[in-house]
Amino acid sequence: MPDPIIRFENVTFSYAGTDEPALHDISLEIMPGEYVAILGLNGAGKTTLGLCVNGVVPTMLAGDLEGSVTVGGLDVADYPVREMAKLVGMVFDNPEFQMSQMSAEEEVALGLENAGTPYEDMKRIIPETLKLVGLEGFESRSPLGLSGGQQQRLAIAAVLAMHPKVLIMDEPTSNLDPIGKQEVFDMAAKLNRENGMTVIVIEHEVEVMARYADRVIVLDHGRIIMNGTPQEIFGRAEELATLGLRVPEAAAIAAILSARGLWKGPVPITTEPAVEAITELLGAKNG
Ligand SMILES: Nc1ncnc2c1ncn2[C@@H]1O[C@H](COP(=O)(O)OP(=O)(O)O)[C@@H](O)[C@H]1O
Ligand SMILES: [Mg+2]
Repeated sequence: MPDPIIRFENVTFSYAGTDEPALHDISLEIMPGEYVAILGLNGAGKTTLGLCVNGVVPTMLAGDLEGSVTVGGLDVADYPVREMAKLVGMVFDNPEFQMSQMSAEEEVALGLENAGTPYEDMKRIIPETLKLVGLEGFESRSPLGLSGGQQQRLAIAAVLAMHPKVLIMDEPTSNLDPIGKQEVFDMAAKLNRENGMTVIVIEHEVEVMARYADRVIVLDHGRIIMNGTPQEIFGRAEELATLGLRVPEAAAIAAILSARGLWKGPVPITTEPAVEAITELLGAKNG
């Protein structure tokens, strides 16, 4: 077994000037190449958890941190965020706010310049990275003229240019239309599967998480209250409902049928196996 790429050891964090910890005794290991989804209501601590991984908490946002967070064996509290950016890239919900340059090329160049990357290397890395996110040939395009999905992919390219080992996406599709959402999730899945990127996604789109995530972590009031495979977590529809969280429609339907004694066997979390099982239940299987 390889070592975990991310390790939280008994982490409790309170922002300066607050009494209630934003994170409460978090212990967590994430393995290289894992795709982890984080669910929870607003204020549950999801963003704070992400910011602990890229080191913004505690190095830029002040507060009281107990325990330790290590990424690739490095304690994030000991490294400036600029250094951690080589290991961890993080993107947020509003791609437009993340755009600051006149062209896509300059957008990607920004972090590289800050990291002191030689110009010759930048000339190679920029087109490579744009290609990775499906924005090949977009070098001179104005970021503000791109669609939401393209902007978010450009924001992701800007962090990928640093060749991080971990990509964190904090509600990356909240401001995107369905096509933009699809573009971003397809790209993240590809980075995970083909490039072995460790992906952490903070998301409300449970259907998408059921399809892509290896693991789902549920946060509530700063604590991890569930941590398991999508199958395990989304099979607990009632518990999630009492927390105010939903499960994929397929799992919700199975839960209702199960309560009526009509469903046996594993709970489907994506549409296709649900359709299969319901077809069988109806005794109407073709062929
Ligand atoms: N910069 C900050 N200063 C003080 N409190 C904060 C700050 N950011 C978040 N919090 C508080 O920390 C808790 C967790 O917030 P957050 O991590 O943003 O949750 P989520 O991303 O799940 O909505 C909330 O109670 C929130 O009010
Ligand atoms: Mg948040």
